[in-house]
Amino acid sequence: MLSALELDLVPRSRREDVDFDNLGFGNVFCDHMFSMEWEDGEWRRPRIVPYGPIAMEPGNATLHYGQAVFEGMKAFRGGDGRVRIFRPDMNARRLEVSCDRLCVPRVDPEVFLGAVERLVAVDRAWIPARRGESLYIRPVIFGNEAHMEVRPSRAFRMLVITCPVRSYFDESMPAVTLKVEDTYTRAAPGGTGAAKTAGNYAGSLYPAELARREGYMQVLWLDGVEHRYVEEVGAMNIFFRIDGHIVTPELRGTILPGVTRDAAITLLRENGHEVVERRITIDEIVEASKGGALEEAFGAGTAAVISPVGTMAYKGEEIRVNANASGPVTQWLYDRITGIQLGERDDPHGWCRVLPDSR
Ligand code: COI
Repeated sequence: MLSALELDLVPRSRREDVDFDNLGFGNVFCDHMFSMEWEDGEWRRPRIVPYGPIAMEPGNATLHYGQAVFEGMKAFRGGDGRVRIFRPDMNARRLEVSCDRLCVPRVDPEVFLGAVERLVAVDRAWIPARRGESLYIRPVIFGNEAHMEVRPSRAFRMLVITCPVRSYFDESMPAVTLKVEDTYTRAAPGGTGAAKTAGNYAGSLYPAELARREGYMQVLWLDGVEHRYVEEVGAMNIFFRIDGHIVTPELRGTILPGVTRDAAITLLRENGHEVVERRITIDEIVEASKGGALEEAFGAGTAAVISPVGTMAYKGEEIRVNANASGPVTQWLYDRITGIQLGERDDPHGWCRVLPDSR
């Protein structure tokens, strides 16, 4: 299908106007985007065009009912000059699962991968070369039909946009601070928690805003039924090191099956750590902390990479972890994953897709 890819390239790049010394996360967009439409039961007209506003009817049902799924990936420029995209095949598969849950037509993983690679290649000059920086890749598919019935759209649009980014969290903070949320919930059994869909993020904004006003950077979600079991952070999956064992919430349909989560579990196990995926209560974390057994906590996500968690506020008390610093396992994992992403370490699983001729 991508043999018919149309290319409409900008006459002049905006790259020179961008202050690469002061990148944020996702507020600068590269010159081009990928676009295609679903009409009459098939994806049509794949093209790479200048990044810019898109026309949409006010009656577009996605604006009203949120039929949108998306993904997040990163491309890296290594010290060897090559461009590597980290595990995009896993994002392609996860997108299919999100599509099914939201009644969005699937995109063939080969088309997805081809679109991502071609777009990154076109805007490769935008990929930052500094450590800790990367090109964030955001594919999104949304219903693109004006109608007011509550039903799946019959037309869709897929876009892929890219942004040069620095780290997701404020680099002046040594560790992420979390408010353990015991009133609001992110997802419930049978809901959309495992899908990467707009509504999950929309529903998190108000509790996250309350947490921010109380001085915490993110929300640590508990389960939607009993408010006892730890789920995820919204921008990342969560891991704890308790008494030498690493524990992370198991995938039960209410949390996102993170690509970085999977990489973290694989690398930790391969290097002799026991990693247990199971339900874990917030009381267990509190007890472990009181007993001195809570050694480390960290989040794993595409945007967040591996981020140490230093504080968790729960019911008016603060759980402090490792004196607010990155612990040895957290740091080891960060170094290992970023080493693979930058081509500085072996990639035995073939996680990185190296762009051809990207040196
Ligand atoms: C990602 O890590 O790719 C995400 O989509 C999380 C988002 C909060 C930036």
